Amino acid sequence: MRIETARLVLALPTVDFAPRFLRYFEENSEHLGPWEPTREPGFFTEDYWRARIERTRQEFATDTSMRLMLLLKDEPRSPIVGHCNFNNFIRGAFQACTLGYSLDRRYVGRGMMHEALAAGIAYAFAELRFHRVMANYMPTNERSGRLLRRLGFVVEGYARDYLYIDGQWRDHVLTALTAPSPPAVANRI
Ligand SMILES: CC(C)(COP(=O)(O)OP(=O)(O)OC[C@H]1O[C@@H](n2cnc3c(N)ncnc32)[C@H](O)[C@@H]1OP(=O)(O)O)[C@@H](O)C(=O)NCCC(=O)NCCS
Repeated sequence: MRIETARLVLALPTVDFAPRFLRYFEENSEHLGPWEPTREPGFFTEDYWRARIERTRQEFATDTSMRLMLLLKDEPRSPIVGHCNFNNFIRGAFQACTLGYSLDRRYVGRGMMHEALAAGIAYAFAELRFHRVMANYMPTNERSGRLLRRLGFVVEGYARDYLYIDGQWRDHVLTALTAPSPPAVANRI
């Protein structure tokens, strides 16, 4: 699957993107360190990324997650400039998923993640028929909080010691966005 915006392509990765994922996470390790979980063993190897991309594709095929890479639309051999992950699909009466994202440090501050998420969320509501997208951020992550507010996410709560990030359990602000026209659930249970 593939979504195009003014400047970006959002796409499900294929295994040949493994070296580019590795480069993205190597080059952004300091930028992402304070906001992301401790890396699994092997995370900084191409083998890890080949296996992870295969899992990503399988999870999309089995309606479990939609993990998308962000590429520059005008560059045929674009590096990965970010990713947005719609995780933890829950169907039935909930029809919800959890959103995570990050952007290459060199592209922050240009409205690119807003552009990517607006399109990704529209796809999640219209094509995947979700009713709720949830996103949680650490209170110190002001950029992420601003981005979610601009997208229309509403604060629903505050969770103490919510996720183990950068070596400690961290509090998170819980937010969510609901579909403008809620889908009937019968066809997705
Ligand atoms: C969170 C993160 C993705 C936000 O990136 P971002 O570039 O600030 O996000 P946006 O796409 O909303 O861009 C908004 C910024 O671009 C600026 N901008 C420039 N051109 C723009 C345009 N055409 N349209 C919109 N905004 C534009 C805005 O003024 C704003 O800058 P400001 O916050 O300094 O005022 C990024 O900081 C990141 O990768 N952080 C590390 C990982 C992380 O925190 N992940 C989330 C964990 S919850």
